Amino acid sequence: MGQDLSLRSLLSATLLLPNEARILLAHLLDKHYQLPRSALLAHDDMELNAQALKDWKVLESKRLQGEPIAYLIGKRGFYSIELQVAPGVLIPRPETELLVDIGLREIKRIAKETETAQVLDLGTGSGAIALAIAHEAPSAIVTATDQSSEALEIGRSNAKHLGLESRVRFMQGNWYEALGGNALFDVILSNPPYIAHQDPHLTQGDLRFEPISALTDHGSGLTCLEIIISQASKYLKPGGLIAVEHGHDQSDNVMKMMSSINLSNIESYLDLSGCRRVVSGRNL
Ligand SMILES: C[S@@+](CC[C@H](N)C(=O)[O-])C[C@H]1O[C@@H](n2cnc3c(N)ncnc32)[C@H](O)[C@@H]1O
Repeated sequence: MGQDLSLRSLLSATLLLPNEARILLAHLLDKHYQLPRSALLAHDDMELNAQALKDWKVLESKRLQGEPIAYLIGKRGFYSIELQVAPGVLIPRPETELLVDIGLREIKRIAKETETAQVLDLGTGSGAIALAIAHEAPSAIVTATDQSSEALEIGRSNAKHLGLESRVRFMQGNWYEALGGNALFDVILSNPPYIAHQDPHLTQGDLRFEPISALTDHGSGLTCLEIIISQASKYLKPGGLIAVEHGHDQSDNVMKMMSSINLSNIESYLDLSGCRRVVSGRNL
């Protein structure tokens, strides 16, 4: 009798966590057979063809070596959108959705006074923050910057897939230098690299596979935050808001940075796990 290669037996034989194995197999069912995830249950006696089986072995082994699921299937859900991701960009994190919430609340507030809101996303990566904002808020005109050409390529491609390419402008360069001169925004949002260079997390889990320039400033963890905050008032309209994501122990430092350039209404926000994760300030 030949080997049982049914979905059911692949799932029971794998060393992967059951949920991860199901995500990878669902990806292959979509790719090779255009079948939905429900086929894992409805057709669990189905056998994969030779190519799909080969792909399964590759994905299974890469995942067992620690490669992030999002890179293996090439996508990740963020806020209300799905983004393509590849090793050239950070995998968007759920805690970053807090920045989107803060940005959207501000855009809604502004909408009572003006028709459009100018929004800047510094260090856009896959385009996560910029595209979630543009998708949710038709009145937002969004500029997204990154110094990485690989990230911008992925960001632009995501914008196209989501039909948002006319609403989000991508620009390359070192923080505000990407703007190529003076520009004024109602809202500046950023999730910059904030992990200190000696932090052991950089050599653990998914982070081992993500671009190092998206994770660390190669210093104390605060240098990118310092650059972004120290120049913010030059790029914010009067009354404009800046909100930045930071590390779990950086909130006090970030609040001090904002008060040292005389931003007002400085507020700290908790992420879903109860960590202080975002600080915002206003250019009054
Ligand atoms: C933590 S990732 C955030 C990506 C995305 N905004 C997100 O939240 O998923 C930081 C991003 O900042 C970009 N970056 C790093 N240094 C930069 C610099 N000097 N100027 C502009 N972007 C930079 C990286 O390429 C990376 O895409």
